Amino acid sequence: MKPLTKKLIPGAAILLGCLAACANCPPHRASTPQVDFAQQVKPLLESRCLECHHWRYLCAGLNLETKTLAMKGGRSGPVIMPGAPEQSLLYRVLLLGHDSPVAMPPTPERVEAEDLKILHDWILQKAPWPAGIYLEPPQDWPSTRTN
Ligand code: HEC
Repeated sequence: MKPLTKKLIPGAAILLGCLAACANCPPHRASTPQVDFAQQVKPLLESRCLECHHWRYLCAGLNLETKTLAMKGGRSGPVIMPGAPEQSLLYRVLLLGHDSPVAMPPTPERVEAEDLKILHDWILQKAPWPAGIYLEPPQDWPSTRTN
């Protein structure tokens, strides 16, 4: 018995060590780093989308200023489906060609591939939007608009 136990213990130690190491690994999709809403998504939406999707200039009824309003969606209903970017209008409109009237943004400049990936991964990661973060339009609308 003794020689066998001696052999088994190092094996068990290696196995346990491996299990412990694996417990520290991200659950899956190790190639998709966690998107930081405040650092990555907020500036992107603010610079490319908020101009036309905030309370003063509310295109298609879609207001992206707060989590609650963004999750409520626009005239077509919810535009963010947490976990499912391909079903989320917020992401799908970015992939449309300009032959479509709903291609976003409607201006000729497309959203860059790396920004597309940020939005895709953010929605895939269940679209976390920390409390207390509000998005702002790029312009100072109150002083430039009269309505
Ligand atoms: C220059 C103004 C403008 C900008 C900038 C803009 N949008 Fe829009 N958006 C519109 C208009 C206008 C519509 C309605 C289009 C139509 O169907 O005629 C719309 C519609 C949408 C819809 C459909 C909403 C619904 O419920 O049907 C989504 C989603 C959307 N925009 C997302 C975005 C995103 C994401 C960005 C930034 C990447 C963006 N938009 C930037 C003007 C804009």
